[in-house]
Amino acid sequence: MRYRVTLLEGDGIGPEVTGATCRILAAAGAPIDWEKAPAGGEAMERYGVPMPEVTLQSIRNNRLGLKGPLMTPKGGGFRSANVTMRQELDLFVGLRPVKALPNVPGAWPGLDLVLFRENTEDLYAGIEHEVTPGTVVSLKTSTTKAGERISRWAFEYMRYRGRRTIHCCHKAPINPLADGAFLAAFRAVGAEYPYIEQLDVGVDTLSLFLPMDPSRFDVLLLQNLYGDILSDLCAGLAGGLGVVPGANIGSKAAVFEAVHGTAPDIAGQGKANPLAVLLSALMLLEYVGEWKVAGRIERAVWDVLGAGKHLTGDLGGKAGTVEFTEAIIDAL
Ligand code: NAI
Repeated sequence: MRYRVTLLEGDGIGPEVTGATCRILAAAGAPIDWEKAPAGGEAMERYGVPMPEVTLQSIRNNRLGLKGPLMTPKGGGFRSANVTMRQELDLFVGLRPVKALPNVPGAWPGLDLVLFRENTEDLYAGIEHEVTPGTVVSLKTSTTKAGERISRWAFEYMRYRGRRTIHCCHKAPINPLADGAFLAAFRAVGAEYPYIEQLDVGVDTLSLFLPMDPSRFDVLLLQNLYGDILSDLCAGLAGGLGVVPGANIGSKAAVFEAVHGTAPDIAGQGKANPLAVLLSALMLLEYVGEWKVAGRIERAVWDVLGAGKHLTGDLGGKAGTVEFTEAIIDAL
């Protein structure tokens, strides 16, 4: 069995980090055939938009994508390529496992959290209007359907992975309808999973406790905006955006992506750390059930990080992208 995967190389350091990832997967014998599709700057030049239909269609056909970081053109009234992709493909699950890796400066020892972010609603619905000059209304949407499907996904993931405790994050005292609906959907679906511990927590309380002691938490379920903000906070607990993978998953397609940006300051210099895209590709392999090859690559990554000899600059080392990549291939 081989898998055809749409590859969005991305802008800035994107081609360097996706290129390194493809090399490592090929060296490990991962059964993947890549289908390159334009996005970001390249797509702007050819199609005038950062996420063209041809790319969305490729992902729809293959049902799988791996994405490097994309720059969002400033001005011009474009929807961000990432938001377009999530909405057009209905990738309602934002999944971000946050784990401490060996030799990553600033990581909380033993950190092991999983965040689920509802990807399609909330303030990201883009419903805003100016009521009178100087007064703007921005609508937060929250449907029972969206709350239930993300909750179900989170519970199923937990059951499958043996995760024990979930916190649903909200600000229900302030937004009793919007956040209350999300909490109610979580509780309704949770009733089908009595063997999983189910708690809720205010977004402010969560923001206080996470940096003090993240080991208090296991799985977090959040609406779009809270998820956006707190997933970056959790990436900080793991040592930064450069080491955290992510996935956007729907019922018909899944796109795996690094959560860092295009790093224009180091683009083209061979310094970028490919770890975040590589770990995202491992999530892709696990998603399709290729656990064995994913596990083999993960062990090689841990070996290289643990040895500490070939770390990239962002991890305090002197290795470039190629040296780090080749060290992982050697460890394989
Ligand atoms: P950034 O993540 O690109 O860079 C922040 C800092 O982290 C920089 O110093 C950079 O060198 C470093 N860094 C990031 N990834 C790294 C890696 N893999 N290896 C080593 N160092 C790394 O964030 P910034 O500067 O705010 O955004 C730059 C561009 O990226 C913007 O156009 C933004 O819109 C876009 N962006 C795209 C995202 C995506 O496609 N998912 C996410 C975030 C930003």
